[in-house]
Amino acid sequence: MPELKESLGHKYLQATKCAREAKDGQAPPAIQRTERWKTYPEAEVVELPRAWPQQGADLLSLLQQRRSQRSFVAESISLEELALLLWASQGITGQAGSYLFRTAPSAGALYPMETYLASQRVEGLAPGIYHFDVQGFRLERLSVLPPGQPLAEACLGQSFLAQAPVNFIWTAIFRRNMAKYGHRGLRYILLDAGHICQNLLLAAGFLGLGGCPVAAFFDEEVNGLLGVDGQEESVLYLASLGRKG
Ligand SMILES: Cc1cc2nc3c(=O)[nH]c(=O)nc-3n(C[C@H](O)[C@H](O)[C@H](O)COP(=O)(O)O)c2cc1C
Repeated sequence: MPELKESLGHKYLQATKCAREAKDGQAPPAIQRTERWKTYPEAEVVELPRAWPQQGADLLSLLQQRRSQRSFVAESISLEELALLLWASQGITGQAGSYLFRTAPSAGALYPMETYLASQRVEGLAPGIYHFDVQGFRLERLSVLPPGQPLAEACLGQSFLAQAPVNFIWTAIFRRNMAKYGHRGLRYILLDAGHICQNLLLAAGFLGLGGCPVAAFFDEEVNGLLGVDGQEESVLYLASLGRKG
């Protein structure tokens, strides 16, 4: 491994510092914009219910009790619970002009992250890989194969992913952000990912579920499971979810 200052990460952070003197007259990035929303019009869809408890555990207790959970009972989670988790992590909660705001903040309200599910034991949802259509609040089915084992293998053999009723998988569509923020945009995309995952984990606690963030994976293997190209769109983060074992 390189010494800190020789690492790519360190060089990236140094090269993308925002300095007062360099900001004036800076040309906009020469990165083309892309679509703000992704959907799969050909996919079979599953509408998500919007019925969930309005009251429950308090925030301070959820913060105190959150712990990464890597052991899950065999029980399924319900579609209502899954819908709440999707809403909590990326649901639409407001509007200003053409901007639709979400539960998690996003730099420039550009929302570069896409949510996929590797679902194995959710009531009313056949096992498979799904994409979350944020605007439609529904799931689009991309694959019918039970995804747990291949996903666990793609995540360096972390077997708890194969046991979890559902795994959330987040990709970024880099252009959405980087057409505005250029090189620095990648910092913001990674920060967006963190917000989304924490929202998910706290909502899981509210439901009496647990989860574990996962960033150790073979990128192109996970991209391959989702059918994304790894260039325009690539996996950044995952979280396993289930009832505590
Ligand atoms: C960015 C990030 C990546 C992580 N990746 C993994 C992972 O691949 N596998 C895993 O078992 N835990 C992973 N974790 C969970 C951490 O190990 C865990 O958060 C840490 O040990 C602190 O424990 P706690 O979450 O229970 O407070 C990750 C956490 C973060 C924030």
